[in-house]
Amino acid sequence: MTNPHSDALVFFGATGDLAYKKIFPALQLMVQNGKLDFPVIGVAKAGWNLDQFKARAKDSLETHGGVDPGAWPKLNALLRYVDGDYADFSTFQALRTALGWAAHPAHYLAIPPFLFELVIGQLVKSGSAKGARIIVEKPFGHDLASAQELNRILRSAFDESDIFRIDHYLAKGPVTNMVSFRFANSLMEKMWNRDHVESVQITMAEDFGVQGRGLFYDQTGAIRDVIQNHIFQVMCNLAMEPPARDDSESLRDEKVKVLKAIPPIEPKNLVRGQFKGYLQEKGVAPGSEVETFAALRMEVNSWRWDGVPFYIRAGKNLPITCLEIVARFRRPPATLINQNPPQNYLRFRLSPDITVAIALSVAPFEEGGERPDVELVASRHPRPGEMEAYSRVLSDAVAGDATLFARQDYVEEAWRIVDPVLKAATPVYLYEPHTWGPVEVSQCAVPPGGWETPRVEVAEGFRVVQHDD
Ligand code: BG6
Repeated sequence: MTNPHSDALVFFGATGDLAYKKIFPALQLMVQNGKLDFPVIGVAKAGWNLDQFKARAKDSLETHGGVDPGAWPKLNALLRYVDGDYADFSTFQALRTALGWAAHPAHYLAIPPFLFELVIGQLVKSGSAKGARIIVEKPFGHDLASAQELNRILRSAFDESDIFRIDHYLAKGPVTNMVSFRFANSLMEKMWNRDHVESVQITMAEDFGVQGRGLFYDQTGAIRDVIQNHIFQVMCNLAMEPPARDDSESLRDEKVKVLKAIPPIEPKNLVRGQFKGYLQEKGVAPGSEVETFAALRMEVNSWRWDGVPFYIRAGKNLPITCLEIVARFRRPPATLINQNPPQNYLRFRLSPDITVAIALSVAPFEEGGERPDVELVASRHPRPGEMEAYSRVLSDAVAGDATLFARQDYVEEAWRIVDPVLKAATPVYLYEPHTWGPVEVSQCAVPPGGWETPRVEVAEGFRVVQHDD
């Protein structure tokens, strides 16, 4: 199938957590934005009827962003519900009936991957896969081999162009805007390479724990949960070359090229941590050695980045929640005028605020004083709805636009990079909640000049900030 707009959206796992927290609010936003005017069919095994399903949808909206008096009645009228076991063929016969005349349904699998084969087989058998596209959630497998197997299952019924693998980070405006920021500013591009950049660091910090998702998290860990997917996407946007054309494949080709240039991470360049108290979380196995924090060093052996180390740290229960990138530039030569030259850097903050900051050394504020380091900061806070990644990915998927989805070769390259450390069983060190991870990070995963500590609050506006303000 090449790009007809979907005429029905089916979502499996309709009574689950993801639907409650993200999908119903996203559907309402799609209605508000004029992107949803076709039936939405929830499928689950809960023993519910349509009224219960609708009540759940309304409850979800009340808890997550509010019920829009204009959009909710329209969404309510579009909702359908099929209750039944995925192993039971009659569930899929009921789905086929609910699809009615729809010829191009989009099937969204918001269910654990071990159910994919069963559900896809039933979709094919019931005739519901014909003319359809399929949308799947991360994680795509738990290592390279399982990702390849998952792909085999998906490809047994769908063309690659009809498979939409969601990584909701790809739909975050600030993440995608990094690419246009880079290529729209010639000043930036001149500096954005191994000649000028000394190191790059990416921090994805969350000030909360596993939030009741212990069972899922304990089979996943920080590397699989956010590094192999979300942070690698950010890294590709930072490191890629300009695409030759503006179609989805040209952009996705460039990202795959970045990953191809990254050697597998070596266990000696990784430190894993676990916050104290994790073992008491519901669903976590006794004595679990799953990491809730990871810090690592990697390289991108491309013409542009060869020799520039990239550092990543990500974790739960850290001091704040933010996503921030700092690229440090090489120091200028020492001269008589400036014997201790500063290190300029560029800081991108992608959340919670959207900030670009440049650190510079300026003339002393008083005669005879020290040269202060300042930051030129341009910052703004996201507008309501702007960060709503799920609405964006679902709108694009039903429209057949693959730009914001992970291609299979991308997924496999990403697993290739982390596979050795996933298998290495490196030690996991404990850390106190609300600290920057275990002290052992200092052994091997610290950028030259140290980790830049992200600030808690960045006010909106454009200004100059003295470094230690
Ligand atoms: C999810 C992870 O994919 O991304 C979570 O499973 C993580 O553990 C979340 O908290 C972060 O995404 P966002 O959009 O909430 O910053």
